[in-house]
Amino acid sequence: MYPLTQIALALVTLLSVTAASLFEKREFFSVMQVPNTKFVANGPAAYAKAFQKYNKPMPHDLAVATGNDGSVTATPVDAYDSEYLCPVSIDGQILALEFDSGSSDLWVFSTSLPLSQQKGHVIFDPSKSKNWKALSGYTWNITYGDKSGASGTVGTDVVTVGGTSVSGQAVEIATQVSSQFVSDTANNGLLGLAFSSINTVKPQKQKTFFDLAKPSLSSPVFTADLKHHAPGTYDFGTINSAKYTGAITYTNVVTSKGFWEFTGSGYAVGNGSFVSSSIDAIADTGTTLIYLPDAVVTAYYQQVSGASYDSSQGGYTFPCSATLPNLTLGIGSYRAVVPGQYINYSPRGSKCFGGVQSNTGIGFSIYGDVFLKSQFVIFDGSSTPRLGFASKPT
Ligand SMILES: *[C@@H]1O[C@H](CO)[C@@H](O)[C@H](O)[C@H]1NC(C)=O
Ligand SMILES: *[C@@H]1O[C@H](CO)[C@@H](O)[C@H](O)[C@H]1NC(C)=O
Ligand SMILES: *[C@@H]1O[C@H](CO)[C@@H](O)[C@H](O)[C@H]1NC(C)=O
Repeated sequence: MYPLTQIALALVTLLSVTAASLFEKREFFSVMQVPNTKFVANGPAAYAKAFQKYNKPMPHDLAVATGNDGSVTATPVDAYDSEYLCPVSIDGQILALEFDSGSSDLWVFSTSLPLSQQKGHVIFDPSKSKNWKALSGYTWNITYGDKSGASGTVGTDVVTVGGTSVSGQAVEIATQVSSQFVSDTANNGLLGLAFSSINTVKPQKQKTFFDLAKPSLSSPVFTADLKHHAPGTYDFGTINSAKYTGAITYTNVVTSKGFWEFTGSGYAVGNGSFVSSSIDAIADTGTTLIYLPDAVVTAYYQQVSGASYDSSQGGYTFPCSATLPNLTLGIGSYRAVVPGQYINYSPRGSKCFGGVQSNTGIGFSIYGDVFLKSQFVIFDGSSTPRLGFASKPT
């Protein structure tokens, strides 16, 4: 989910009927998380040094065993993969958070919320944390692209994701959350993985978990291996070659808006020929669907029998029995194939709601989970950030 800019906010207000259903995400079925705790040992450090000395890529297991690298399970919250949740430890209190490469705030349900809003959620209690330090006078306030939002106060604490631990992490305490978050009881907050420049804490922006962890990682990267209707993983500090096939294609990232923003090279529908066109897009793990220029969306649904734009649903729908063609999206010369079945997002009324929708009113395209789960994705936070994409077995 990307935070709303002023312009996007104005547009969404203008288009409120459509916009209300633009972002198909939270349903409200809960899957309890089992924390995937990895313990880090120092034994293989000498072996690891040899790899570093000769500048050879370290085997994945070794990197994890010797550094602050870690892997965490991302579990779909419902039968539609409307969002993925990961266990996060805040000084030992474990909450299921949504990892969001489209925003940069780490915020949590807390004891500061009205009791009625805490109901059903796992909440963070700063008074039980021995490392908690309140940042007096600091506040935060975020509004996301689907008009959901939250705000509150700030402190710092020790945060651990899989085997990756940081101290001094700004943890934003919710004192107010919108109704979307209240009803999504499986979700206890977000962990933002976009660039720290769009963190909303005032008077001073705070660093994301990834930015704080970076110096202690084997490599300044995290990877997303989200899965269709199954748990996947986020890895920090390492690119696990067992998780993809073929070569990785990298593309430049423009960070001016604070997003993992890149230029796609075009698209193809089914077995149709590839249409070259520049698509300004963000890679957003916190958005469920794919939002594309109208030309692409129209071309796609022309190949789906019975598909049409349904204004009452705010998007394209089709008979649930329709066979959906694959959608190929280009990144440079690489062709990322989204299997047609991923584009049948969920039943809606008597039809099914499409996983590909128009980006009208957003100002750029969003390659959300329907796309990301078809790929192995590398978020490379080197001094010149870039995104890497590779195929994986479906
Ligand atoms: C947060 O921002 C929204 C949108 O700008 C505003 O309506 C709301 O009053 C703000 N909340 C707080 C607590 O400042
Ligand atoms: C597209 O090509 C694949 C592989 O060659 C073939 O199995 C499939 O039937 C084709 N689909 C259409 C709709 O032509
Ligand atoms: C869809 O893509 C998959 C993976 O590339 C391929 O195996 C399959 O043949 C494609 N299906 C069609 C109908 O073209």
